[in-house]
Amino acid sequence: MQKNVIVTGAAKGIGRAVAVAFAKEGCNILLNYRTSVPEELIKEIEGCGVRCVAVKCDVSDFAQAEELVKKAVEEFKTIDVLVNNAGITRDTLLMRMSEEDFDAVIATNLKGTFNMIKHTSKYMLKQRSGSIVNMSSVVGVIGNVGQANYAASKAGVIGLTKSTARELASRGITCNAIAPGFIGTSMTDVLSDKVKDSIMGNIPLKRFGEAEEVAELAVFLANAKYITGQVVNIDGGMAM
Ligand SMILES: NC(=O)c1ccc[n+]([C@@H]2O[C@H](COP(=O)([O-])OP(=O)(O)OC[C@H]3O[C@@H](n4cnc5c(N)ncnc54)[C@H](OP(=O)(O)O)[C@@H]3O)[C@@H](O)[C@H]2O)c1
Repeated sequence: MQKNVIVTGAAKGIGRAVAVAFAKEGCNILLNYRTSVPEELIKEIEGCGVRCVAVKCDVSDFAQAEELVKKAVEEFKTIDVLVNNAGITRDTLLMRMSEEDFDAVIATNLKGTFNMIKHTSKYMLKQRSGSIVNMSSVVGVIGNVGQANYAASKAGVIGLTKSTARELASRGITCNAIAPGFIGTSMTDVLSDKVKDSIMGNIPLKRFGEAEEVAELAVFLANAKYITGQVVNIDGGMAM
């Protein structure tokens, strides 16, 4: 069956790889972006023989998220998979972290995930089927210096995932979280070589992961009918 998939924050990085991976599986893609989306990405997805509808939306805004989901239903009728990928960092030590740095990260990473689940689950409940995959982080499991806001948001995503999984299981809807370690994207490109070297010391497999590897896991979890409420680490062994 051809599935309809919403991927948030899909213009680049892991979200982009997730959108392309689902398209390669024959799924239609509702591609959410915040600032802009490269035309070649839309062409690449359409080149897989599926539809790609790109919608600008800030997922941290409850009303905008609702419009995004309505657009997906207008275009595709059903929503089979929701991948909550949009995320930001505002790293600094707790002592220096402003209220605004804290609130901004929680608003996108945690509230944005809630907003999308809230609006999408309404349709999945009626369908009595659906898969939700949330992008958490290994930092939400083990914490990290300079990322109190980010770690709190990603730990929150894990609690949200497990509660959603329990609430929606009886209607055949699964909800799982992915906890990536360090993946080579613009989010990690900004780290200094010194920080990268120290991170590498904690990765048993001695390399950063690739966005495509995370995307493969998202596709797997979306198709797995008997896995729900789980947090799957993909981190080169960092948090074993
Ligand atoms: N890279 C890693 O090592 C790593 C590790 C663990 C978890 N993760 C998580 O994986 C996800 C993807 O990360 P990434 O590395 O691919 O980051 P990225 O390259 O910075 O991409 C993040 C994407 O999210 C979008 N976005 C941000 N805020 C948004 C909002 N409010 N509404 C809609 N879209 C928004 C961004 O759009 P704009 O560019 O337009 O702002 C961007 O396209 C995030 O949730 C991140 O926390 C990443």
